[in-house]
Amino acid sequence: MELWACPVCLAPLDGLASGSITEYLNCAGCAVRYPVCTVGDQSIPWLFTDPGGAAADWQMRYQGFVLQNQTQRQRLQAALCETGLTVLNRERLERQLHAREVQSQQITELLLPLGFSSEFEVPGVDLNRLGGSVDKNQGLLSYHNNVFRDWAWNNGENEAQYAALEATYLPGEPRELGRLLVLGAGAGRLAFDLHQSHRSTATTLLDYNPLLLMVASHLFSGTDIDLYEFPVAPLTSRSHAVLQRCQRPTVEQPEDTRSLGFVFADATKAPFAAASFDTVLTPWLLDILPCGLADFVPQINRLLPVGGIWQNTGSLVFAHANQRWCYSEEETLELIEQQGFEIIRAERRIIPYLQSPHSAHRRTESVLSFRARKTVEQPVRPITAYIPDWALQLELPVPSTSPIAMAAAHHLLIAQVLAAIDGQRSVDEIGQLIARKYELSKESAEFAVRQILLAVE
Ligand SMILES: C[S@@+](CC[C@H](N)C(=O)[O-])C[C@H]1O[C@@H](n2cnc3c(N)ncnc32)[C@H](O)[C@@H]1O
Repeated sequence: MELWACPVCLAPLDGLASGSITEYLNCAGCAVRYPVCTVGDQSIPWLFTDPGGAAADWQMRYQGFVLQNQTQRQRLQAALCETGLTVLNRERLERQLHAREVQSQQITELLLPLGFSSEFEVPGVDLNRLGGSVDKNQGLLSYHNNVFRDWAWNNGENEAQYAALEATYLPGEPRELGRLLVLGAGAGRLAFDLHQSHRSTATTLLDYNPLLLMVASHLFSGTDIDLYEFPVAPLTSRSHAVLQRCQRPTVEQPEDTRSLGFVFADATKAPFAAASFDTVLTPWLLDILPCGLADFVPQINRLLPVGGIWQNTGSLVFAHANQRWCYSEEETLELIEQQGFEIIRAERRIIPYLQSPHSAHRRTESVLSFRARKTVEQPVRPITAYIPDWALQLELPVPSTSPIAMAAAHHLLIAQVLAAIDGQRSVDEIGQLIARKYELSKESAEFAVRQILLAVE
């Protein structure tokens, strides 16, 4: 607990306890209370700069999952009511329907300690907040397959990932990690393997996806989790829904006195005092952050003392709107060296990636792993979400860019068609409204309405 700091001002936090359980961490300076969630014997703090906003963001994602799950079930139920189903058709549909029902319970149960409910209620969010706490591309189940890769498939992928990281050590170089922080730890297997190697004196896992960190904390403590996998390209009828038992590998577990911690937080605003760690690991994180790498590297620098080590492994596929941020491998390594690090070793290696034994899709990825040593301190710049000027300075004109024009071409009509749905109007009637508005023929309007509704259905 002494590691945790206020994500806004980085001051130490005071615990507010009820009995022996710390329920909140309080920052006296910022007058903000951060909730602490109890999972087994772990206390996991919720250290986002806007804790209510982040809770609302993830709760909305949870509610989205519940709604999507309901839709999938309704579609399966509808298919089961069709006539002429073969035994095989029925078996597959019933299997999927059962799996979707169980999946909803499984995910809900995992999130229970956070108090999310499908009865959606926004807990005290500032509706003027621009950008939100969580990147719009990150969903609750975005990295769901990583859970199975980490803890269920046993197909050698985790070993290959571990070996790719190990390949960054020079011959004879010491392997001690000291106090280890894993940023974007996900479901946690690489962190687990490193913790098990007994080379860290303490291991901290940080992620902002609560589901993944919940899974990690259960698995680390030896609690198995049953979860349904829905492979992207099912191989056989039984592969459409596979009940997976996620288990940590058998470990010799002599009484482990080293500390282990989990933190819900944003990696770009890591809630720790300067130089809190000896090693920071960023596995498959750098290219999915919504900020420029030039702003993120100083944040990693801040977390390490001079001589501390930054380890990275994963893809480098930057997809920012800002093209300057879409660095090549060479530019990435150059930028890291400009920001107070020396690269000890960088290595590319092809590894298997998300090769579910139940799916016809099998990926391999060329990953860049490196180890870099901090040489000098770097000033930290606050990282803010990218918000265009016209959204902040309301008197500025909104530029007519081609993405806006393209979106308008699709979305205006879509918005009008969707707004016309009142549970009473038919395609015919909506078509007439649209035809009048756009001076379309009856046929063209009906065609457009049907296209739009089928696309969103
Ligand atoms: C590609 S996954 C990799 C997960 C894990 N490291 C692995 O190798 O399987 C990226 C992870 O980073 C997390 N993540 C993305 N942006 C984050 C942020 N700003 N703060 C904290 N975690 C973040 C995601 O929730 C996800 O767990």
